[in-house]
Amino acid sequence: MLARALYRIRWHRSSILVRNNHMQTSRPSSGRTASFGFRTVPEEDKEFLVKGVFDSIVSTYDQMNDTLSFGVHRLWRDTFVDSLKPGRKGPLRCIDVAGGTGSIALRILDHAREKYADRETSVEIVDINAQMLAEGQKRFKKTMYHYTPQVSFHEANAQELPSSQFKDNTYDLYTIAFGVRYCTSIPAVLKEAHRVLKPGATFACLEFSKVGNPLLSALYDQYSFNVIPFLGAILAGDRDSYQYFVESIRTFPSQPEFAQMIRDAGFVTGGNHDGGAWTELWGGVASIHTGVKIM
Ligand SMILES: C[S@@+](CC[C@H](N)C(=O)[O-])C[C@H]1O[C@@H](n2cnc3c(N)ncnc32)[C@H](O)[C@@H]1O
Repeated sequence: MLARALYRIRWHRSSILVRNNHMQTSRPSSGRTASFGFRTVPEEDKEFLVKGVFDSIVSTYDQMNDTLSFGVHRLWRDTFVDSLKPGRKGPLRCIDVAGGTGSIALRILDHAREKYADRETSVEIVDINAQMLAEGQKRFKKTMYHYTPQVSFHEANAQELPSSQFKDNTYDLYTIAFGVRYCTSIPAVLKEAHRVLKPGATFACLEFSKVGNPLLSALYDQYSFNVIPFLGAILAGDRDSYQYFVESIRTFPSQPEFAQMIRDAGFVTGGNHDGGAWTELWGGVASIHTGVKIM
């Protein structure tokens, strides 16, 4: 309750600052700013605000995903994990960052077991939000992976994974689904991903992206800006968080820009086009980006 109240105060405080300064914030203590949806906020406030968003929606997160996407997010997650074929070449050590309630981790383990009879692939689920991890633990309690070395939960920031716990050159697969856009510094996340992956290992990101077709883009905008915040208000009692989700999608880099960031972090990607460095889903509503760490 207290955290939620503090979050609301900061949310509105940053709104007032933004309005008073004609879309500029007051000078933050570090001097650096970050985008928080369409707002610019002091960099040090962003993590707190993002945490508040997820604290606020944690209990309805999975249900709202189904409602707002008409279940399509499940197909995207399936496509994402199927495309990575976990278990095909033997057991993998995976890290699922911003893993939240564990939907990607569960799919990775199911895929390895069902397709390749692999019961040794493991996933470490990392998230900055303890409440989202607790929801994930609840979900895993109902599965055969509960209390096995195949899954574990870790509270940590994607931008600075503690190196004592997440050592260099450790993982075969790094996944991050619908999480990177909430992080204050995307280059810092990618740098950490590169550090913890083994040479030859894969970085894979599922994220909302830019829609190329103008007609689809117009329809998508109408749905995003008019329907999603409205449903957020009536179904989850939280318009602000859903408004933020929509805005954060629009401020995320385009597919070519994000692919370049992945290369800048040291990964090798396919060519700079759909079907190369990234694969678009539903005309670019979401995209899967991959990169390989060479050394
Ligand atoms: C939209 S949820 C996605 C969760 C999950 N990957 C999924 O596909 O359902 C985004 C998650 O990113 C987490 N997150 C945001 N910033 C983070 C950071 N800097 N480090 C780690 N996790 C972060 C949030 O706490 C939240 O659980």
